[in-house]
Amino acid sequence: KQRIPHDESLDNILALAQEGYTFIQDRVKRYNSNLFEARLLGQQVICMSGKEAAELFYDESRFQRKGAAPKRVQKTLLGEHAIQTMDGEAHRHRKLMFLTLMTPAHQEKLGRLVTEMWEDTISRWEGLEQVVLFDEAKELLCRAACRWAGVPLEESEVKERAEDFYSMVDAFGAAGPRHWKGRRARSRTEDWIRALIEDVRSGNRQAEGGSALLQIAFHTELDGRQLEPQMAAIELINVLRPIVAIANFITYTAVALHEHPQHGAALRSASGKELEMFVQEVRRYYPFAPFLGARVRHDFTWRNCEFKQGTLVLLDVYGTNRDASLWEEPESFNPERFRNWSGSLFAFIPQGGGEPERTHRCPGEGITVEVMKATLVFLADHIRYEVPDQDMSYRLDRLPAKPESGFVMSRIRRK
Ligand code: HEM
Repeated sequence: KQRIPHDESLDNILALAQEGYTFIQDRVKRYNSNLFEARLLGQQVICMSGKEAAELFYDESRFQRKGAAPKRVQKTLLGEHAIQTMDGEAHRHRKLMFLTLMTPAHQEKLGRLVTEMWEDTISRWEGLEQVVLFDEAKELLCRAACRWAGVPLEESEVKERAEDFYSMVDAFGAAGPRHWKGRRARSRTEDWIRALIEDVRSGNRQAEGGSALLQIAFHTELDGRQLEPQMAAIELINVLRPIVAIANFITYTAVALHEHPQHGAALRSASGKELEMFVQEVRRYYPFAPFLGARVRHDFTWRNCEFKQGTLVLLDVYGTNRDASLWEEPESFNPERFRNWSGSLFAFIPQGGGEPERTHRCPGEGITVEVMKATLVFLADHIRYEVPDQDMSYRLDRLPAKPESGFVMSRIRRK
């Protein structure tokens, strides 16, 4: 059998984290192959990129998630034994719970909340010398997420809770202090939400009808039993935390608007189409999710490569969204590419690929897009602001990446 390229240099996970977003793509180019092997943490890993690779990766008969997510990522970003680690029927049942919380009506409700909350910030902003959009977005989204999900939150708690939600996300590619900060944030947040779930179950607290809090508190598994309070807390956090994480995409949206002002006019006369195109291009172009992992379920061969049972396989998310065989001039920011885009479940995968009902693809894409659109209208059309000198660059060797300055705005005025 022909051997696929083998990379000797990456023998630990921290090397991978340090290489960051481009580590798979750099080697795909070097070896001229969408598939290569590397050693990570003493184990053989297969790395792959592109649309066909994504299609393969989401074939449940070939891959499983059990045993794929490293413990250090479960203890920070995901929560232990949560939906991301499940397979088969049990996964699909859990997934349905998430998807029923995120229907178009739920998406619009959150979008409206976000719009109202942005409007409410204007008068405060007018009195300030400058604001950091990233910090403002985290807090606003924390408020909005909790309100939308039926989770009570005092105004005095917002700052710390928001910081905790984002710290879990910020820990995913980290070792050392950033990792430990994420772990502390997770245990604090789990304690808070678990107590809330227990209060709702015991009748000490009423949860709003249709809210994520109510649905998750009383969700039953295939065996008819309720989730353990700890598990219910982790899954409710799996709804709240990623909404706060949209702060990152919001910051990139502002950077994109600033660096490509020619789009501003089209966005102001905004038909929904231009807004959608812009938001999709932000999700394609900027780095957030770097890659995904799964394990080979049974031995098989694909493109001359032997996938041995149990092997860890990484799918290149960032590189697939910038694959030159799928995207024209992938390195340029161009919302127009989405005007007549035919759509693909596997070429555009900022939040995973495949069909969300059947695969691990993110159930929150609709929500993410609504929240980003609401914010884009606000930035492009409801306020005027200046953008002082600052460092908006982001480092591709930091997981997750984010613009250094967080996007500083000054002299903000209502339009
Ligand atoms: C899964 C990205 C927002 C809830 C995922 C996955 C990615 C992702 C890459 C994994 C796909 C896979 O394993 O195949 C993002 C990004 C977001 C975002 C970049 C932007 C901030 C959201 C939102 C929610 C959400 C707003 C909910 C309100 C989830 C859940 C899963 C998931 C529950 C696990 C799905 C499963 O394992 O079946 N997301 N997401 N995400 N996301 Fe998101």
